[in-house]
Amino acid sequence: MSRIRNPRLARLSKPADAQAAERPIAGPRSRRLFARASAVLPGGVNSPVRAWKRLGGEPPTIVRGKGARIEDADGRTYIDYVLSWGPLILGHAHPQVVAAVRAAAGHGLGFGAPTTGETELAELLRSALPSMEKVRLVSSGTEACMSALRLARAATKREIVIKCDGCYHGHSDPLLVAAGSGCATLNTPDSSGVPAAFSATTISIPFNDLVAAERVFAANPGAVAAVIVEPVAGNMGLVLPRPEWLPGLRALCDAHGSVLIFDEVMTGFRVAWGGWQNVCGVRPDLTCLGKVIGGGLPVAAYGGRREIMDLLAPLGGCYQAGTLSGNPVAVAAGLATLKQCAQPGFYEIESTRLTLMLLGFSSLAQEYGLPMQFAQAGLMWGYAFSSTPITDYASAAAADLDRWRTFCRGMLQERIYLAPSPFEAAFWSSAHDRRAVAATLAAAGKVLKRMQSPQ
Ligand SMILES: Cc1ncc(COP(=O)(O)O)c(C=O)c1O
Repeated sequence: MSRIRNPRLARLSKPADAQAAERPIAGPRSRRLFARASAVLPGGVNSPVRAWKRLGGEPPTIVRGKGARIEDADGRTYIDYVLSWGPLILGHAHPQVVAAVRAAAGHGLGFGAPTTGETELAELLRSALPSMEKVRLVSSGTEACMSALRLARAATKREIVIKCDGCYHGHSDPLLVAAGSGCATLNTPDSSGVPAAFSATTISIPFNDLVAAERVFAANPGAVAAVIVEPVAGNMGLVLPRPEWLPGLRALCDAHGSVLIFDEVMTGFRVAWGGWQNVCGVRPDLTCLGKVIGGGLPVAAYGGRREIMDLLAPLGGCYQAGTLSGNPVAVAAGLATLKQCAQPGFYEIESTRLTLMLLGFSSLAQEYGLPMQFAQAGLMWGYAFSSTPITDYASAAAADLDRWRTFCRGMLQERIYLAPSPFEAAFWSSAHDRRAVAATLAAAGKVLKRMQSPQ
C-alpha cells in the first residue's frame, strides 16, 4: 500500500535545501522577533504553515493590514493574497467590519447566553444555503467538521467515513488522515499522537475519483456513515470538481443511506453567495462553514437537514458545546462582512476582476515559456507549475515544486505575499484594486522572466 502523506504535514517534512545561502525575505527586525517567538512558541508559530518550512527562511512578522496590503515589522508593505487564509474577503480592516466589531465590543465581549446576533447569522446562513435547515455556530472549521462527522455517525449509527486525499477538514483525530492507495483499505493516522483506532474508520480516496468511491461503498455495505468532501478542493492548491463528481457522491450517499457532508469552510461565501452547492446544484445533508462567515474573527458553523440537526444536545443525545460559540463580537464581524458580500453583483464583479488578473498571469507564463496551470472558483484561485491540469492530490504533488519555490520566494521579494506552501489556495478581496493588480503582474513578469533563463 503506497502512502500519500497529508499535504499539510508533507510540507513540514521537506525543509528546503540550501536555504541558508538564500537572501532572507524577512527584514532584520522581523527576524529578531521570530527568534524571540521561537523561544516560546513551538516553531515560532501558532499554526504550522506560518513557519514557512516548505519555502525556507523566516516569515515576516506582520504588524498591520489595510485593504489589500499588509505591513511587516520592518515597515515593508506586501500585497496580500493570503488574507488570513481566506476570511478577509473585503480586505484588511474594512471600515464597516471594524465599526461593527467596535460597537459589539462596547456592549460586552460575551455572555454565554442567547443573543440576537447569533440567530440573525443563523437565519442569514439558512437563507443563503437552504440545505442548512438548522445551524449550530462554533468557533473553528476544525470544530465544525469534527462535530458534523460525530452527528453523521449518530444519525446513521455507522462508523466509516470517506474523505479524499489532499482534502483538509481540520485537525480532529479521525480526519487527520489522507493516506492510502487501497480505496477499500482502512487507513492509519497521519500525525503522531493519534491512536490508530481513532482513524481506523477513515478511508481516503482520490478527489474526483467516483470509481474509487463506488468501490469503497461496495466493499463496506451498510457501514459508511458519511462522505466528507471539500466541494472545490483548496488544500492541495485549487482543484475543481469534475462535473460528475459531486452529483455522483450524492447518488452514492442516497443509494447507501449515508450522509453527504460538504466542507465549505473555505468555499462558503467565497466562491459564490452561499457556497459551491449553489453553483453545482447538489444539496448536501450537512454543510460546514468557517473563514468568511466570521469576517476574520473566530466563527464557524455546521448545519443541515432538520431531523439530523435535532439529534444534537439539548434536543438529542449527540453532544457538542463551546464556551465561545456564537460569540457576539465575532458574530458582528461575520454579519458585517456578509452584508457587504450581499450587495448586488458583488461576486460577479469581483470574480471577473480576478479572472482578468489570472489572464494576465497566464499570458506572462506563456511569454516566458513556463508551463503553468491556473484555476479559479469565484474569489479563490490557484496556480501550479505543471504542463498538465491538476485534478487530485497526486497531480498536485507531481507539479514542479522547485519552480514553485523559486517563484514564490521571488514574488515575496517583490512584496507580493503568496501562501508559503504549494498546497494552499490563494484568495482575492474586493480591496484588490487596479493598482494592486498592476503591481502583482509587474512583479510576476519580473520573476517569471528571471526563471526563464537557466537558474
Ligand atoms: C476546507 C477546510 N476545512 C476545515 C478547515 C479547518 O478550519 P480551522 O483552521 O478554522 O480549524 C480548513 C482550514 O483551512 C479548511 O480549509
